[in-house]
Amino acid sequence: MPFPIHRKRRLRVSEPMRRLVRETQLEPSQFILPLFVCPGEGVRRPIGSMPGNFQLSIDELVRECETARSAGLGGVILFGIPDKKDEEASEAYADNGITQRAIRAIKQAMPQLLVITDVCNCEYTSHGHCGKVIDGQVDNDATLKWLADAAVSHARAGADIVAPSDMMDGRVAAIRRSLDANGFQKTAILAYAAKFASAFYGPFREAAESTPQFGDRRSYQMDPANAREAMHEMALDFQEGADMLMVKPALPYLDLIRRAYERFPVPIAAYQVSGEFSMLMAAVERGWLEYERAMLETLTSIRRAGAHIILTYFARDAARLIS
Ligand code: PBG
Repeated sequence: MPFPIHRKRRLRVSEPMRRLVRETQLEPSQFILPLFVCPGEGVRRPIGSMPGNFQLSIDELVRECETARSAGLGGVILFGIPDKKDEEASEAYADNGITQRAIRAIKQAMPQLLVITDVCNCEYTSHGHCGKVIDGQVDNDATLKWLADAAVSHARAGADIVAPSDMMDGRVAAIRRSLDANGFQKTAILAYAAKFASAFYGPFREAAESTPQFGDRRSYQMDPANAREAMHEMALDFQEGADMLMVKPALPYLDLIRRAYERFPVPIAAYQVSGEFSMLMAAVERGWLEYERAMLETLTSIRRAGAHIILTYFARDAARLIS
């Protein structure tokens, strides 16, 4: 008879006791803060659906990065919003593109801050798709060159990690090959490996001005119903040379974070996306949820599932609360 010998409540009696037996810890160094960089100077344009987040010009971005560094965050991930978009996503891989200039400015001000870049084309194409459109379709193989060129241009500007989020087949191999051929053997690849065609990216597309002008992303991003296929996607990116694998979004896909953690011997990242953030913030604004507790509970759950690294718009506030 387990009871009354076993009483689980014994280890819950006080905070010191609970702290002693806590299985999952949060550290600021595990959080990556997403930042949006736009042209101009002194620009700090609020993103309506994402309270506390802004489109930042490079000078403001550098200030934000200083805050991120002093909070002890693991790093930042940059999303560029170019002045002009075109059919060829020209600014995605231009050496003087908005993201490339932003990386240089950050690295000049604080070489120690880890800079990750999102490698994708949707912010840079006039049609808002993640690749080259040929006859109304996103062409896989033609897009690989853009991605490889963008990754090399980011590495040349000083990025520590490049993170392809486009979901083209073969992009990790193409990027690894180009990085190595250009002398960037030390630049790491964080693959958005299991990235789903999710409704939760809505607020991000407002922030990054990257909504597709026709159709949707379902011919390249994954069907939310498919878990075994997600494991295959991750296996392929792993074989192609990804140093780290990401699951995205996070909370609706905790099962995949756990399976990735058990199966692959590399760090697993999870992206708590814009919609996950906005949903919680909206409930907080209505007084329906307690901000700090709800936020930390989501982050703890993502860690408990097996994510080593969390990309989250809560990074600053969460770091402040736990340190
Ligand atoms: C670019 C990209 C997206 C996100 C990260 N990189 C948008 C998309 O795929 O439509 C979403 C991030 C978020 O919602 O916070 N492809």
